[in-house]
Amino acid sequence: MSYPSSTSGSREPGRPQRRYPAQEADLAALAARNRLRRLQPARGLDFSSNDYLGLATSGRLRRAARDALERGVPVGSGGSRLLRGNHAEHEALEQEAAQFFGAEAALFMGGGFQANQAIFATLPRADDLVLYDALIHASVHEGVRLRRGQAAAFAHNDPDDAENRIRTWRRDGGRGQIWLAIESVYSMEGDVAPLESFVGLARRHDAVLVVDEAHATGVHGVAGAGFARHCADVRLLTLHTCGKGLGAAGALVCGDRPLVDLLVTRARPFIFATAPSPLAAAIVRAALRLLGDEPELQASARRRIAHAHAEAGRLCGLDGFATQIMPLIVGEDAATMQLAACLQSSGFDVRGIRPPTVPAGTSRLRVSITGNVSEADITRLFETLASRPDLLSPEALS
Ligand SMILES: Cc1ncc(COP(=O)(O)O)c(C=O)c1O
Repeated sequence: MSYPSSTSGSREPGRPQRRYPAQEADLAALAARNRLRRLQPARGLDFSSNDYLGLATSGRLRRAARDALERGVPVGSGGSRLLRGNHAEHEALEQEAAQFFGAEAALFMGGGFQANQAIFATLPRADDLVLYDALIHASVHEGVRLRRGQAAAFAHNDPDDAENRIRTWRRDGGRGQIWLAIESVYSMEGDVAPLESFVGLARRHDAVLVVDEAHATGVHGVAGAGFARHCADVRLLTLHTCGKGLGAAGALVCGDRPLVDLLVTRARPFIFATAPSPLAAAIVRAALRLLGDEPELQASARRRIAHAHAEAGRLCGLDGFATQIMPLIVGEDAATMQLAACLQSSGFDVRGIRPPTVPAGTSRLRVSITGNVSEADITRLFETLASRPDLLSPEALS
């Protein structure tokens, strides 16, 4: 069995070609099902990244990086935070982030995937119950997989289903703590969680509500501090990734001191990993200050998003979008990739998303309204989509 091998990377002359029959068969099987994934260079207008404010390439964050280097901030941490890798920049960021996100304490980690693994593998105890939204990010599943104890999904954005599961678990003798895991903005659906209802649910059952704000941070809430910033009187842990709206790298876990302290002392993804670069911490700190100082960043993101929703309706008859993430559900894997290729060849970087990232039968284009496109670019994207009615049939986009 063969598979279409990658054209990227070249073999050194004289280097023997070693064979891996089992792995090559896996690759061939994936290719046959249209599921082989490939790295592609970033090309075309950015309708695909999570750089929602355009900060990743902004002069302001570049200047912050240069200033940090000039005042002696090292590019590498050199070790785990618990050993020599702890730096004043990490701690300064954590202090500012706790204040910005309205929490007692914050912990800076290498990324959101690692942070979710750390939270769910470390904090719930064996007799606790973790309930997570059916569309929660893969990193939460990874964390849940690493621990003992019970966990179950509830129907997407359905606090009533979550509550029924809590009641059943209690009735069956469950005694421990409930942990509720949701995203404020879902990464592939672009819809928003009914946060107030989940806060009420958490209060009624004295649960800990864990809100992954990965796609809200920087974009939504006052000063981009996320949707959960003002949730009061509830046990709350929030996750703010720093490589998306904040344009940098890493992730901040924000919550009450005992939870953060337990992560520091027990979370294996935190303990057994080299600390993030202090330079990254300095850049994230600058990004948070920028959000506070320049409300126009958020205001212009809001205008772009509103324009995209309006143009999707006017030009393509598409509606029901809630945020900067606009999923165009196609269904079939091959048709999705064909539509993506068509847009890419017209200069738009729009990517197709297939299972297992999304449920089978719901392959889609994930159109992301980033800070790297103008309103005119957005209009042209939807004009191009509208010009291919063969690929964009109303049934396909239901
Ligand atoms: C909802 C959500 N949580 C966590 C992550 C992981 O964050 P990071 O990319 O910082 O590892 C992502 C990344 O795509 C995400 O979409």
